[in-house]
Amino acid sequence: MRVAIFGTGYVGLVTGTCLAEVGHEVVCVDIDQAKVDGLERGIVPIYEPGLEPMVKANHAAGRLRFTTDAAEAIAHGEVVFIAVGTPPDEDGSADLQYVLAVAGTIGTHLQKSAVVVDKSTVPVGTADKVKVKIAETLAARGADIPFEVVSNPEFLKEGAAVEDCMRPDRIVIGADSAQAVETLRRLYAPFNRNHERIVSMDVRSAELTKYAANAMLATKISFMNEIANIAEKVGADVEMVRKGIGSDPRIGWHFIYPGAGYGGSCFPKDVQALARTAQQHGHEPTLLDAVESVNERQKGHLFELMLRHYGDAAALRGKSIALWGLAFKPNTDDMREASSRRLLQQLWDAGVHVRAYDPEAMDETRRIFGERADLVLCESADAAIEGADALVVITEWKQFRSPDFDDLEARLADAAIFDGRNLYKPGDVEAAGLAYYGIGRGRSI
Ligand code: UGA
Repeated sequence: MRVAIFGTGYVGLVTGTCLAEVGHEVVCVDIDQAKVDGLERGIVPIYEPGLEPMVKANHAAGRLRFTTDAAEAIAHGEVVFIAVGTPPDEDGSADLQYVLAVAGTIGTHLQKSAVVVDKSTVPVGTADKVKVKIAETLAARGADIPFEVVSNPEFLKEGAAVEDCMRPDRIVIGADSAQAVETLRRLYAPFNRNHERIVSMDVRSAELTKYAANAMLATKISFMNEIANIAEKVGADVEMVRKGIGSDPRIGWHFIYPGAGYGGSCFPKDVQALARTAQQHGHEPTLLDAVESVNERQKGHLFELMLRHYGDAAALRGKSIALWGLAFKPNTDDMREASSRRLLQQLWDAGVHVRAYDPEAMDETRRIFGERADLVLCESADAAIEGADALVVITEWKQFRSPDFDDLEARLADAAIFDGRNLYKPGDVEAAGLAYYGIGRGRSI
């Protein structure tokens, strides 16, 4: 099938590439000429395992092209995806200006009937707005061309996006007509093998499904962070509690890891946006607000543990702290809403020098913070330890999982580890003579 995709960010680029991989003819559109030129030469602007070779192979095979020419892309597509960003507005609701601008562009250039697909995470009711915008633009040029607007949210995880896209656990299609569902069924047929993955429903339910999924996952994390904080107070170990509850299939093992708070481009933004939608419709989102405020507090928790160890902020002044991890989670260079950003700010405010290392996010850190006297970007985890007083781990990259604690004890002047992802066994760390602080590990504090 012939597909056009607006937006070559995470969602658009991964979706377009995977659709090309299964044989569709895909044209991706972006307004950023430099990005389009780069992609045409096989330069992928994000770090996502497996994506670059797939972009190159499909581009070479002629199934995947990149352009800034919206008219050409719309002429090409029988299915036209909207996969542009929906950044949060000042009040936390999703800003639809880019989505609606694309809708206007579609209305301006549409020559034959098409199915328009909302792939961006958009508040309930957006498909209706997109429909109105396209219809108005068509009417303004006196055109009468049939089109449909479908909601087809994505469920990709950064770091596993290609895998998630090629092997989806479900494909949600929200449409007003059986014909539109049929078009998307044909499009997704190569991904819908062995068992039925397509869940079709009305447009608004599909739009809400996306937010419900992310809000549920964020709720699990904030819940466990709350339990972790209680565990610290009552002298229990949340890791034991986690093991004690996860085997109940109604609770499950996934997303019950306490830590330094959730970040990324989705959870913080989506929880807030859903809360604003609820308010706009007259519902007070008590639970969602709590999920967010627990997370906000949790992002400051590592620093609180440091204050507990050092006594007060004044005692931290002039210290040199090694920081392992900067990205909001492993296998990505993404630092949007990363907990490391809060911690860095708190450390700098306290007059601390930071020696940081992340396997992928060094360039991104440089881009965000620029040159600073109180930030040294180190070439390896080991280099970050050099001359440091204590170690903080904030992203659970595999390579941070089993350090030599005896070596750390010898090199860290204050002999302390602050483990923001509970990677280590307190006993192992303490046996080497280091002080150990984890999340919710009351027994060891
Ligand atoms: C999330 C969802 O997992 C995807 O299903 C969804 O499609 C995506 O948002 C989206 O809406 O686009 P992502 O933001 O890539 O994906 O990252 P996650 O792997 O979900 O991690 C989010 C954050 O939660 C990370 O900061 C991670 O460290 C934290 N987390 C996760 C925990 O603190 N504890 C856990 O048990 C799990």
